[in-house]
Amino acid sequence: MQLKDNIKFSIDNQMSVGGEDCKNILIKGDNKAILPELVPVYGGKIKCIYIDPPYNNGDSYHYYNDNTTTSAWLKDMHSVLSWLRMLLKKDGSIWISIDDKEMAYLKVEADRIFGRENFASTIVWQQRKTRENRAVFSCNHEYVLVYAKDIKAFKKSRNLLPVGEDFVDSKYKNPDNDPRGPWQSVSASVQAGHAVASQFYTIISPAGVEFDPPKGRCWAYNQEKMLREIAEHNIWFGLEGRNTPRIKKFLANAKIGLTPETLWSGDNYGTTDSAKKHLLSLFPEMENVFDTPKPEELIKQIIEIASNEGEYVLDCYIGSGTTMATAHKLNRNYIGIEIGDQMADLVVRRMNLVINGESGGVSSAVNWNGGGQYALYNFDKNKVEERKIEDKPTYSRQPVQYHQLDLFDLFEQYGEEPITQNCMVREDIEIEYGTKHNHRHLPIDLTKNLLICNVKKDNWEQYLDGSAKIYYTGKRFPTSVALNKLYYFMPYLSGKGIRDLYYIKIARLGYRKEGQVNEDKNDLRLVFEIERVGQLFDDYKKVKLEIWRTFTDTTMKKIIELIE
Ligand SMILES: C[S@@+](CC[C@H](N)C(=O)[O-])C[C@H]1O[C@@H](n2cnc3c(N)ncnc32)[C@H](O)[C@@H]1O
Repeated sequence: MQLKDNIKFSIDNQMSVGGEDCKNILIKGDNKAILPELVPVYGGKIKCIYIDPPYNNGDSYHYYNDNTTTSAWLKDMHSVLSWLRMLLKKDGSIWISIDDKEMAYLKVEADRIFGRENFASTIVWQQRKTRENRAVFSCNHEYVLVYAKDIKAFKKSRNLLPVGEDFVDSKYKNPDNDPRGPWQSVSASVQAGHAVASQFYTIISPAGVEFDPPKGRCWAYNQEKMLREIAEHNIWFGLEGRNTPRIKKFLANAKIGLTPETLWSGDNYGTTDSAKKHLLSLFPEMENVFDTPKPEELIKQIIEIASNEGEYVLDCYIGSGTTMATAHKLNRNYIGIEIGDQMADLVVRRMNLVINGESGGVSSAVNWNGGGQYALYNFDKNKVEERKIEDKPTYSRQPVQYHQLDLFDLFEQYGEEPITQNCMVREDIEIEYGTKHNHRHLPIDLTKNLLICNVKKDNWEQYLDGSAKIYYTGKRFPTSVALNKLYYFMPYLSGKGIRDLYYIKIARLGYRKEGQVNEDKNDLRLVFEIERVGQLFDDYKKVKLEIWRTFTDTTMKKIIELIE
C-alpha cells in the first residue's frame, strides 16, 4: 500500500518537485489525524523520529499558539507518541525536544508509552549563549529526550560519532608489520570478580619471561585459547618478546567512533539565534521569520546518530522545515507534517532552496551541492466522509449479508485440504508474544482484523485471570472476514465489555468439550487457539457488537479509534 492509495491524501503537483513515487514527503495537516493513516504504509519502517512540538510554555508566536493546560497538552502528546511508536522500526529511535516547564511530565508519559527500559538518554542542548537578565534564572538549555523502540536493537544499530584520521593514526600502529594491517593493543587481563579457575595460569613470553595475572585479575582467555592466540600472533609481548602480554585489536575489525555524549554545546550544535539567522539569510524579505527554529547542526547530529543514508526520518511538527532540509542534505528519505500556513510560506520555499544547492546550515559540513525531490500532499478527511455518505444508501436498502461460517462454509472457504489437515495455523507473523508484554508495548498491527466474541459466564474466570488458551465458537460462527484474515481476538464479557487482547495462533475444527470426559466428537465447533498479548485498554470498555448479538469483526485501528 502507498500513500497515494489513500483517498485522504492528494498530491499537490504545483508545490511538489517530484511525483507520487517520490520517497521524500511533506504533508499539510493535523498530525493527530494523519499519523494513524500512515501506519498501514509506514508502520515499523521509520528509523529516526525527531519532534519539536509546541512546549506549552504559555507563549504565542506568529505561526502558532503555545498555550493550553498541561493535561490537554499531555493528552495530545500521548496520542501522537503512541502513533509514532507504531511507525518506528525495531532498531529505530525517537528524539523529543522539550524545555524545563513540561519536561518532567512528558518524561513520565513517554516512559509509559515506550517503556522505561527503552529510555536511552536526556540530551542537554545549549539553546542560547546570551544571558536573559529579566528572569530569575537565565535558562540557556533545552532537553532532547531519546527513546528507542527496543533499546538493545538501537544500541547495536546506532552510529558512533566520526573520528578524524589523526585519531585513528595515533591509536592504530603496526610495529611488527602484521600483514593484517594496523592494530592497537588492549590488556590481556581482566578483573577476577567472575573468573573461573582455568583463567589463572602462567604465560611464557617468546623470550622466555614468565607472567602471572596481576593481583586481583585473571587472564582474559583460558590457557588453551591463550596458547592458540599466541600461535596466531594475536598476542603482543613487545618487539623483544619480553613485555607483559597484550591482545592485538585490528583496525580492519574495529567499529571506530566516539560514543555520543549528552551535553551538546551551542558552539558545536548551533542555538535558536543561529537558526533564526540562517532562516533570515534564506528569506531576507520576511518580517516575521519563524520564532522557534532548531539549528540544522543539532538535527544533523541526531539524524547521523540515529539513521543511515536511504532510511526514513520523520518529523510531525516541522515548523520552518529544519528536520526535512537537514534530512534532505544528508540523503535520508523523510516524512514531514505541519498544520500551519508555514508549510507553504516557509517549508516549501526552503526545500526548493535546498534543492537548488543552498549553502547555509550544514551545507558545507556535508558538501551539499543541491538536487533531489520532494512531494507535498494535502490531507483531507472530508473526502472519506463523502465516500461513506455515498455508501450509506446501499447499506440501508440492503443490509450487509454477513458470511455465516458454519462447517459447510469452512469446506467452501478453505477447500478439502485444510479440512483434512483440520487446522489453519498462522505462520505469516513473526511476532512472539509473551506474558510479559503490557498494552503499551504491543507491536499491534492496526491493519489486521480483530474478532470480538462473547464469552459465557462460566468461562469468565480464565479470561479474567488471562489464562485462557482456547475459544470455542457456537455451532455457527458469523464473520464478514475470511478466517485466515483474523489475527486478533478480544473476549467480550457481557455487562463489562472488552479489555484484553489475544493473538489467534490457530483456527481449526474441533468439538465441544474437547479432551473432557463428556466430549462429543459429533458436536463440531470452530476452535481458536489463542495467546494473551496483554490489556489493550486500561479498563473494560463497552462496544456495540454488530454481527448478531455475540460476534463482531473489525480492524484494530477501528476499535482503537472507537474507544479513544
Ligand atoms: C516548535 S515548532 C517546530 C520548529 C521546528 N523544529 C523548526 O526547526 O522550525 C512546532 C510546530 O508544530 C506545529 N504544530 C502544532 N500542532 C500541530 C499538529 N497537531 N499537527 C502538525 N503540526 C503541528 C506548529 O504549527 C509549529 O510550526
